[in-house]
Amino acid sequence: MKDYSDYINYSRKIYDVYMSMSVLNWDMETHMPKNGNKFRAQQLSTLAKIAYDLETDNNYANLLEQLSADNSLDNDQKRNIYLSNKKFVKRKKYSGEFIQRQSNLISTAFKDWRIAKEKNDFNLFRQSLEEIVKLRKEETELLGYSNHPYDALLDKYEPNLTTKDVDLIFKDVKDHLVPFISKITESNHIDDSFFYQKFDKQKQWDFGIELLKQMGYDFDSGRQDISAHPFSSHFSPEDARVTTRIDENNLSDMIWSCIHEGGHALYEQGILCENYGTPLGNSISLGIHESQSRLWENHVGRSLPYWKNNYNRLQSFFPEKLKNIDYKIFYKACNNVKSSLIRTNADELTYHLHVLIRYEIEKGLIEGSIQVDELPSKWNSLYKKYLDIDVPSDSMGVLQDIHWSHGSFGYFPTYTIGSFYAAQFYNQASNEISNIESKIEKGDTEELLKWLREKIHKHGQRYDAKDLCKKITGEELNFKYFMNYAKNKYSKIYDIR
Ligand code: CO
Repeated sequence: MKDYSDYINYSRKIYDVYMSMSVLNWDMETHMPKNGNKFRAQQLSTLAKIAYDLETDNNYANLLEQLSADNSLDNDQKRNIYLSNKKFVKRKKYSGEFIQRQSNLISTAFKDWRIAKEKNDFNLFRQSLEEIVKLRKEETELLGYSNHPYDALLDKYEPNLTTKDVDLIFKDVKDHLVPFISKITESNHIDDSFFYQKFDKQKQWDFGIELLKQMGYDFDSGRQDISAHPFSSHFSPEDARVTTRIDENNLSDMIWSCIHEGGHALYEQGILCENYGTPLGNSISLGIHESQSRLWENHVGRSLPYWKNNYNRLQSFFPEKLKNIDYKIFYKACNNVKSSLIRTNADELTYHLHVLIRYEIEKGLIEGSIQVDELPSKWNSLYKKYLDIDVPSDSMGVLQDIHWSHGSFGYFPTYTIGSFYAAQFYNQASNEISNIESKIEKGDTEELLKWLREKIHKHGQRYDAKDLCKKITGEELNFKYFMNYAKNKYSKIYDIR
């Protein structure tokens, strides 16, 4: 007779394969020589096949079925079985043929996208993207949905999040955030030009490491490397890594990408080792993950108390460059709100308009109301509509993001959801931690980290995102927390009544 410990061993085996893939992926983005590409792709594809076979094995199905009916299991054990079973059912819906086709399509699309972006020619990517959209539509039918086909895609990244939920959130954004951003852009102009001097790379790196240490990031269970695009990855709670990017001519790039990725990694370091390889040893969703990075990046790392504490230290690295800038000017400059072309460079308010545009396009493509060949003009008109900005080229427009070339549809909304969760969680943390601001002002974020560990990190997938939010804050995700935060902060910065 098989029992729960057999399940644990089996589940860990699957997880080990995935974590090995993560190591190879991390290596690919950080240290792998150019020629390593071909065989690396093959190695990853082999591991993906091994994982798929393990996950869809009939003996595993029997084990899950048997344990699903086992009433002697405690709640955590039941939760693990429930989630593993749910995953199994989902995985089974894909044929091996679909997975293979998807992987071929994505590697072609990625190549096409890179060339199209380089040559500023959307047409070079158009055909691949059409195939990808077709594949994703097929996937929505395969997975099933109750209201909108896009629901099936959202669910892959943010379980139980629906198109209706996202529509409601973006309605709030349009009704409240958009007019507030207009007020800001009509008021004073902030000068942030000092960010764009030449800042020594090594000194930037050293300062970034200090910020990570101050947050409580454990370098015995992680490390930082350089990559083209900053990301975090984890192989266990005892090995959760970050990367950063250093632009010699832009100080802000490194600082907030360090804090952002650090926030992601703190989440992974806070997951319990004893749950390794099971759903309880895994983060909940992309939205909750992003809530952790944004909480640190924006609510802590772009706050006045944070810079009151850290600015002297930064100035000591660059005494000449920052000679005439005090921490209050610095604080305003790092919260400069203005319409821009590129999502990843956007401030924390207009950022959500970039996501809204992508959401409207993705939803339209999946429901068939938008066709791929109209994307450049659709994109440009939406940038005019929401950000009042003219897009000069497809490279800086519809081709700017990597996501669609990777086949990721349904991913973008999790950025916005994550930011709004962050605001709601941070509001709750401020209610429960006395004098949080004066603590941050002294460089003490220990209690905040402890709070996040206790409320979020240690639970893994014990609760789904919606339940977790209710449990922590007493209500479901509510946009008003983000809006209140934005109004309080930016009314002061921009002198708006
Ligand atoms: Co992130």
